[in-house]
Amino acid sequence: MSGLHLRAISHAFGSNQVLRNVSVSVAPGELVCLLGPSGCGKTTLLRIAAGLETIQSGQVEIGGELVADADRSLNLPPEKRGVGLMFQDYALFPHLTIQENISFGIAKKNRSAHQSLIAESMANMGISGYAEAYPHTLSGGQQQRVALLRALAPGPNVLLLDEPFSGLDVTRRAQVRTETLRTIKDTGVGTLMVTHDPEEAMFMADRILVMNEGQVLQDGSPTDLYFHPHDQFVTELFGPVNEFEGIVKNNLIKTKVGEFPVSGYNDGTELSFLVRPEGFLIDESNRGISMKVITARPLGRSSVVMMELDDDTPIEARVPGVVLPEAGSSVSVSIRPEQIHYFPKSTTR
Ligand SMILES: Nc1ncnc2c1ncn2[C@@H]1O[C@H](COP(=O)(O)OP(=O)(O)O)[C@@H](O)[C@H]1O
Ligand SMILES: [Mg+2]
Repeated sequence: MSGLHLRAISHAFGSNQVLRNVSVSVAPGELVCLLGPSGCGKTTLLRIAAGLETIQSGQVEIGGELVADADRSLNLPPEKRGVGLMFQDYALFPHLTIQENISFGIAKKNRSAHQSLIAESMANMGISGYAEAYPHTLSGGQQQRVALLRALAPGPNVLLLDEPFSGLDVTRRAQVRTETLRTIKDTGVGTLMVTHDPEEAMFMADRILVMNEGQVLQDGSPTDLYFHPHDQFVTELFGPVNEFEGIVKNNLIKTKVGEFPVSGYNDGTELSFLVRPEGFLIDESNRGISMKVITARPLGRSSVVMMELDDDTPIEARVPGVVLPEAGSSVSVSIRPEQIHYFPKSTTR
């Protein structure tokens, strides 16, 4: 099997159990994101895949070859794994030119064969004029592009990226992210990328693995995770939610903001009922729930409207365009059925 397969990886630093039986596969050409809060074990998993951390339990297979196996004390070093690495501090070699940095990982005898490929990639990324320049003369975004090409130049079986855009400012980040995605997809290399930014994961990934406390909570496409989260943690990871109490009766969940069909729960079950800010529709129909507007703020593409129910429960809504109801006014609000989520209380924090 080609691609990357991490099987049943567990890892501890002293008494700190950091990974608990994690398995991850990345097919050739696939971009998989590990998404989770700081400290949940993402970097450790990537370092185990790369061979920068000695495997304690489980196996790593890359490009059809077993490169690490705890049971057999097999642990090939990074340079024997066919991996392209790019970590948070994508430090380039300061005393080498851009061209030399990019060619660094390519065996000397193969360098001339790679020249045209590298030249083409540099042109695509708008850095062809910099071949003979030294890293410090390039902007952060340009250095990041060079680091990516350096990781890709030897033609790795798999690319491992750890928070690759975190050093860039917000405006540059979006552009570099787009180019990086295109370059990766052009080369067709399977990629495992770590991020704690849900929007970045949604943008980049074919598949996202949500991690928390050393475990994978959910594995799915970006739309799967956003629209069909398995639990409250995953729901809240993708942005703020409005949370209400719900109780089931006759296959309906009854909440402060209305009743909605549910199935599979007995009467009397208490559920946590979650609505994302964009799940609210402010309409003219007057058929919705009456809410009082506290503030409405335009953000450009959308507006944030803070409201209150009759009993003062705060509601945060996000509406498209510049819908800006007046503070103090009363509006009618309905809820998009595809934007509601409910989970048994016992599984929530
Ligand atoms: N070399 C190390 N020695 C001891 N503890 C470590 C080491 N590397 C990471 N940790 C700990 O392992 C946990 C997971 O870290 P890490 O994998 O870096 O998380 P993430 O990348 O998700 O933020 C954290 O509690 C961190 O402090
Ligand atoms: Mg990390």
